[in-house]
Amino acid sequence: MLRPLLLVLLCSSTIWVSSVTAAVTYDSKAIVVNGKRRILLSGSIHYPRSTPEMWPDLIQKAKDGGLDVIQTYVFWNGHEPSPGQYYFEDRYDLVKFVKLVQQAGLYVNLRIGPYVCAEWNFGGFPVWLKYVPGISFRTDNGPFKAAMQKFTEKIVNMMKQEKLFEPQGGPIILSQIENELDPVEYDIGAPAKAYGQWAGKMAVALNTGVPWIMCKQEDAPDPVINTCNAFYCENFRPNKSYKPKMWTEAWSGWFTAFGSPVPYRPAEDLAFGIARFIQNGGSYANYYMYHGGTNFGRTAGGPFVATSYDYDAPLDEYGLTNEPKYSHLKQMHKAIKQSETALVSADATVRSLGKNQEAHVYSSKWGCAAFLANYDVNYAVKVKFGNGQYDLPAWSISILPDCKTEVYNTAKLQVSAPRVHRKMTSVGGFTWNSYIDEVTSGFASDTTTLNGLWEQLYVTKDSSDYLWYMTDIKIGSNEAFLKNGNDPVLTVQSAGHFVNVFVNGKLIGSAYGNKDDPKLTFSQSVKLNIGVNKIALLSASVGLANVGAHFENYNVGVLGPVTLKGLNQGTVDMTKWKWSYKVGVQGEKLQLNTITGSSSVEWSDSKMLAKKQPLSWYKTTFNTPEGNEPLALDMISMGKGQVWINGQSIGRYWPAYKAEGNCGTCYYGGYFSEKKCLSNCGQPSQRWYHVPRSWLKAGGNLMVVFEEWGGDPTGISMVKRG
Ligand code: GAL
Repeated sequence: MLRPLLLVLLCSSTIWVSSVTAAVTYDSKAIVVNGKRRILLSGSIHYPRSTPEMWPDLIQKAKDGGLDVIQTYVFWNGHEPSPGQYYFEDRYDLVKFVKLVQQAGLYVNLRIGPYVCAEWNFGGFPVWLKYVPGISFRTDNGPFKAAMQKFTEKIVNMMKQEKLFEPQGGPIILSQIENELDPVEYDIGAPAKAYGQWAGKMAVALNTGVPWIMCKQEDAPDPVINTCNAFYCENFRPNKSYKPKMWTEAWSGWFTAFGSPVPYRPAEDLAFGIARFIQNGGSYANYYMYHGGTNFGRTAGGPFVATSYDYDAPLDEYGLTNEPKYSHLKQMHKAIKQSETALVSADATVRSLGKNQEAHVYSSKWGCAAFLANYDVNYAVKVKFGNGQYDLPAWSISILPDCKTEVYNTAKLQVSAPRVHRKMTSVGGFTWNSYIDEVTSGFASDTTTLNGLWEQLYVTKDSSDYLWYMTDIKIGSNEAFLKNGNDPVLTVQSAGHFVNVFVNGKLIGSAYGNKDDPKLTFSQSVKLNIGVNKIALLSASVGLANVGAHFENYNVGVLGPVTLKGLNQGTVDMTKWKWSYKVGVQGEKLQLNTITGSSSVEWSDSKMLAKKQPLSWYKTTFNTPEGNEPLALDMISMGKGQVWINGQSIGRYWPAYKAEGNCGTCYYGGYFSEKKCLSNCGQPSQRWYHVPRSWLKAGGNLMVVFEEWGGDPTGISMVKRG
């Protein structure tokens, strides 16, 4: 039987070879796979953000784009929806995903977390975890450590059983424990630091046979490698000189939030960031994201993270190449690969070529590769290097895999690079039926009465976005406002994220927060009747927080005060009154979104279609458009809600929330950052919603829409992306 031999590190001017069988180790220069130092180009593809039917094509495109590794998080809340009940099917079939990557001949970096951040609901933690007695997340806390260790072991054992770690013949060459603990250690101090040390050691003890990494965690314990996440990482240094310089998140763009512009990052700048990192001795670079995909269902975190997680990644949300980014990076990957032997065999000598220009030369008997850099943001220069002269555009790096021939420059988009502008082409609308959900009000038998205002998650456990808060207020006939006409003002304060305010069954208005400040205040005068008036507040969450120290304690819902101003007795504070509660809207209870449930109510026909009404359900059946172009719904005529096709949730939609104001999120870092809105300003943050083709059958597909606010479904159309 062959056994992995211990590696012997040769001096840095010698290429790295050994007779080792299967093993993954590292040294100061690189990850060493089967005895070979590697420059590894990697890309994040999160398996539940696409469908299993899309996976092979995405992985193949990643391979064609020049990647060696696919990086993914593991999504705990998708895998353990209730304690001890595991789910590993369909979009959560992790083993299948990893095996597909292997079949394509690529490696895997498995970021187990199990905290993942990722703009994913609750950062990947199941909401039930919050209610484990005595728990406190991501710090030195017994119940938390026990739960996170149990899940980590579950995943590691599953991967071992399937022989998926590299020394077993599998594709996994790296695993990550935790995620960006630095900021939490900074906020919480010693207990979080102790937890970080514990987490690293716990992971190492699982004996996977491949290195563990911790991203953005300076004090990662040996032998765990600490890695960089940022727009640029050229100056990053791991915490020990014998660890390689790795970049787990090179942000290819950024995520979109409802209410924010759609961020982008130019291909040239992203390429510059990566080339500079490799030039400076980096040996693993991962695009976060390579394919961003879609936050289907209620998986989006935030709050306010949009359903699209396109990220301006090299593969767009629909799995199509995002040009010229995809091809520009592909060409760079080729140039880096041509330089790989030289890069791993020597340390660079750095030479100045001018005030803002440098050459980094990797030379040994195994080869010579050079990177010529111009850091000047504004000026192109000609530089002399060796016997040649080279044109370096502003903010660019040229790659010379033989130290002579420039095969690539990060700022020169090849003429041959495709510049495809993808379009959304309508293929038609739908004929709808409607059903108006009931405005729940008062203390009915199916509601729960509690004293005061309760935090939303505590009541819903996130089983629905919606929670009704209801109370009654009595108005006497002697109220002055009835005569003078100055209607009283109802004020509702909520921790977020959205509220519809109904008085006596009628929507009188809505209010909502935003990504940076989820809190909201609704304040408006209201018409009240003599006698009992019904106040009903429909509070909606829009994705749970996924980042921040102890984000598990962030509140959602109407916490008050709720006041009525302008009555004879002065301001009435209803905050501590009796309120009745109901989780979810009635249509959810009836499962109107499902094929069987949708027939449980009487729908109005298309001639009597309800339009611009809150809490309206719409349904239609349709045939699948021909062809194989990806499909989406154009929801431009709608307000805010959710949509399902054949019972599968497409996600939350909110085209009425427009990209507003000066943005902090359309920047792409470093020298090119802009503080003003750059894209889709004044337009919906998200207008189109991906409909995976594999969720459709040829004919008779059922689509159901729940509109919270008010919209016109006759304006919805199916579009093809191409
Ligand atoms: C990082 C985090 C990722 C993701 C990213 C922003 O800090 O590690 O999970 O949230 O930010 O897209």
